[in-house]
Amino acid sequence: MQVTLPARLYGCPDAWARERAAVFGRAWLFLGHEAEAAAPGDWIATDLAGHRLLAVRGGDGILRAFHNVCRHRAGPLVRGSGGHCEGELVCAYHGWRYTLDGRLRAATGFGAAEGFDPRTLGLLEVRLETWRGLAFICPDAGARPLADHVAPLEALLAERGLEMAAPALRRSHDLGCDWKVYAENYLEGYHIGSVHPVLAGELGQADYRVRVDGDLVVQEAVGVNDGPQAGVWGWLWPNLGINVYRDGAMIERMTPLGPGRTRLDYLFLNDSGPGALGEALEASDRLTAEDARICEAVQANLSAGAYDTGVLSARHEAAVAWFQSRLAEIHT
Ligand code: FES
Repeated sequence: MQVTLPARLYGCPDAWARERAAVFGRAWLFLGHEAEAAAPGDWIATDLAGHRLLAVRGGDGILRAFHNVCRHRAGPLVRGSGGHCEGELVCAYHGWRYTLDGRLRAATGFGAAEGFDPRTLGLLEVRLETWRGLAFICPDAGARPLADHVAPLEALLAERGLEMAAPALRRSHDLGCDWKVYAENYLEGYHIGSVHPVLAGELGQADYRVRVDGDLVVQEAVGVNDGPQAGVWGWLWPNLGINVYRDGAMIERMTPLGPGRTRLDYLFLNDSGPGALGEALEASDRLTAEDARICEAVQANLSAGAYDTGVLSARHEAAVAWFQSRLAEIHT
């Protein structure tokens, strides 16, 4: 029987610092859909576990990612989650100007300085690769290719003939719990009967299964609707839910904001546009509110000091055990 991670790792600054470097500094992280930055100058940006990142479409049509930090005195190039710039990125602090491929074009008003070489002061680039239109970045230059990371999911989608639709709508929700609390909740269906009464009614007596394949966790409720062939309910290490159906998909990023703080960033994909999402949005809002209540209550208990470690069910919590084992490696 596997024992859980100790409570002190949830919401503590030291654990956050280790996870920020050893998990989010090395993994492929979902940034957005490439169609959200379709034209030259379009950009998307995010703050993910303290990594402040942007991707901008160059004049050559290539989408590139950079740390959102100016090489002068660390000002931001862009603010917000998405937008457009005309031909260059301009620092918001003192106005240094960068080309869309990251070179320093002009150190505005800087004046003469011995040894100053603008060629050495380009933006700090980050690896960006796309899979089925989804753009991922990886802060680790030595990491294996994105294709390896998503291979089990690609195989499953191909086997079931599923496509990725176009981006239709974004939503986000802030939660007062550590990212691990929410991810662990996502990785098991054990709580559905207690926390999600409507969903439990829809699933009925379905055989709920969870399996791990490389960096992918697949959950299936066998016997519901068209059975497992209806879609794929997946989760990619370290923080991404990817649920793909016949008529669309929902991407859910569990974005760590700091120790004990998480943002859920949803991207709904649907070729029929936002108007077709009525029922899916309603169900998503209901499930998120139910999960938020239980996860915030769990976080409060983890922080309260009475509970240290618990145990995991081999029957229901195999994916949680896998997730915690990976994290235990960096916390020992
Ligand atoms: Fe960017 Fe000064 S920090 S121009």
